[in-house]
Amino acid sequence: MIRLDKCLCHLGYGTRKDVKKIIRAKEVTINGVICNKEDMKFDEINDVLVVQGIEVRYQEFVYIMLNKPKDVISATEDQMHTTVLDCIGDVTKGLFPVGRLDIDTVGLCLITNDGKLSHSLLSPKKHVDKKYYVEISTPLTIEHIRLLEDGITIDGDELCKPAKVNIIDDHRLELTISEGKYHQIKRMMIACDSEVTYLKRLTIGPLTLDDRLEEGDWRYCTDEEVELLRQ
Ligand code: URA
Repeated sequence: MIRLDKCLCHLGYGTRKDVKKIIRAKEVTINGVICNKEDMKFDEINDVLVVQGIEVRYQEFVYIMLNKPKDVISATEDQMHTTVLDCIGDVTKGLFPVGRLDIDTVGLCLITNDGKLSHSLLSPKKHVDKKYYVEISTPLTIEHIRLLEDGITIDGDELCKPAKVNIIDDHRLELTISEGKYHQIKRMMIACDSEVTYLKRLTIGPLTLDDRLEEGDWRYCTDEEVELLRQ
């Protein structure tokens, strides 16, 4: 059982005050009966909740896949820049991006309110693979590719774990890394005497960016995707 106002706040219908207004305006029904008390409790699993004519399902945890555009930062709030949360609107309270993409990196950004899942995806002990599509200024040599595959040293003394390298052509490749060092791919390319000109994240572990999502578009992860992430 859950309190109606708490549930509606969690679902992103606004503050307790906003939610009270919606309830007082008779815009909420449970099993077809108009609700008139914000502190009433209902069974969030079995009862049918309708808000402003739309049936809504309460879920404690929310998982969203965003195709992050350029010039958007991986943060929950910022005075100067648009954040990944601005991209999806106020759908649920307590959401945050899992890990960080640079402001000029595009692609897969997972947004959730599930701290445990986020922690396990980011934990260095779990070695979760992240695949990137990378465009570079200067082609890599065979020696650079070998270094990346063996574990390249960046900035003189920081050793990276072995990466998977899939060369597409002289200026395009896919790189899979299992860590999340600061500006890692960019620094790996600098260590290869090249420079990243475009960077897009394609996967996080078993989760693949839905190629139907244009930059800035998002969707909820499917139950199957969430199940895979939890494994
Ligand atoms: N590596 C980078 O350099 N930037 C990112 O945003 C992600 C990985």
